[in-house]
Amino acid sequence: MAEPLKLGLAGLGTVGSATVRMLLRSRDELAARAGRAIELVAYASKDPPKDNTIDLSKIRKVESPVALAADPGIDVFVELMGGEGDPAKSSVEAAFKAGHGVVTANKALIAKHGVSLAKLAEQNSVPFSFEAAVAGGIPIVKTLREGLGGSRISRVYGILNGTCNFILTQMQKEGRSFAECLKEAQKLGYAEADPTFDIGGFDTAHKIAILTSLAFGTEIDSDAIYIEGIESITLADLEAADDLGYRVKLLGVAVCSDGGIEQRVHPTMVPKGSVIAEIDGVLNAVAVDSDMMELTLVGPGAGGDATSSAVVADIVDLAAGRKVHPFGRPVGKLGKLSRAPMQRHEGGYYIRLAALDRPGTAATIARRMADENISLESIMQRRRKGRPHGGDNPGAAGASASVVLITYATTEDAVRRALAAIEKEGVLAEKPQVIRIEKS
Ligand code: NDP
Ligand code: HSE
Repeated sequence: MAEPLKLGLAGLGTVGSATVRMLLRSRDELAARAGRAIELVAYASKDPPKDNTIDLSKIRKVESPVALAADPGIDVFVELMGGEGDPAKSSVEAAFKAGHGVVTANKALIAKHGVSLAKLAEQNSVPFSFEAAVAGGIPIVKTLREGLGGSRISRVYGILNGTCNFILTQMQKEGRSFAECLKEAQKLGYAEADPTFDIGGFDTAHKIAILTSLAFGTEIDSDAIYIEGIESITLADLEAADDLGYRVKLLGVAVCSDGGIEQRVHPTMVPKGSVIAEIDGVLNAVAVDSDMMELTLVGPGAGGDATSSAVVADIVDLAAGRKVHPFGRPVGKLGKLSRAPMQRHEGGYYIRLAALDRPGTAATIARRMADENISLESIMQRRRKGRPHGGDNPGAAGASASVVLITYATTEDAVRRALAAIEKEGVLAEKPQVIRIEKS
């Protein structure tokens, strides 16, 4: 058998601990698959591992991740600390400069610096892998990079954040509060160290930025993503969606058309019965539309076990000597991303308005929509559970009714203009809620 592959691993949190556990537990099976032994020889960690059943007594501790990355005793540096800046970035750079390959689960780092890091890896002729950075245990990076190399992809989209899908599912199915569900997602090890990345849509944006590059062969442009999180989604929206035949999911979507590449992240209504609508809890789903076929991959998107499975799969590839370009082609062959502006996005919309209960309100709303050529598929007045003003007396000063509109396909621009005009008329008691509808 060839020499063992020697690993240095930094970060012993949820993913790091689970990775070490898998490396130790499956040592023989991994060696058989890789054709050589895989040995964890050194680690860097601020604290003892989250999992106190791991025995690290025979493994060398190195004080700093950067020193570990450059350590001559390792072949591959495994970065599981997280964060787009240092020490993650400087340690990955140090590893490449020392001639070591890198495996990471860090989507924030890849979304921000992935292309320049891939270039450095290329210059030093070392491998660079990040399967775990997108959709946890689902092998979507490999699928886009290698499996779909012969297809022309037009759209890649899906549920890419386990925390948000867990929260939305729990709210919709169990009627639990947003805050309570988030706390549980954190306890289960799904959420980022700062959960704003999850609920604000930024983590999904990091992932769709990476998928865009792999799907369309472009450089990553994470500043060209329209981002909305799930903070404003209420039980009222989830109930209305259910009544209308939809589920609400936080989707990341990248579409390539003649107008450029549209990248967006926002809560989305998807028809009940579609594959995406039925994906619940921490599960993720990534759908790919291409000239050859459509496919959807489903699996656990977060948590130590699922994520470490992807990290270890990358390590096995490196141990076996399987080398690929990190983004599916040499960095110099990645094109520039031409951005399709969000204002030109076309699709159906769900709009929930807290409309003041007074004569002429409905006519005003309908007129302003018509002014922008927006056709309405349905208008539904829903009973409001807690009227902010005016009690239950329709017509009382300040009383409002919840009006839900579903539009036929229109543009983002038209919807924004119509809503601004309606707000200007002074007929709304609250800011409108807008959720885009996605064909799936
Ligand atoms: P955790 O916060 O659980 O773990 C990160 C670990 O890195 C912590 O133990 C932290 O120590 C340690 N660390 C931070 N800075 C240093 C440093 N300077 N030196 C040594 N150790 C350090 O995060 P996760 O395990 O959840 O995530 C790790 C990476 O995997 C992130 O990039 C994340 O985005 C990604 N990921 C996570 C998934 C998940 O489900 N959790 C899924 C897919 C990807 P301390 O706590 O003391 O700061
Ligand atoms: N916080 C992320 C999620 C981890 O909830 O999906 C997996 O990338």
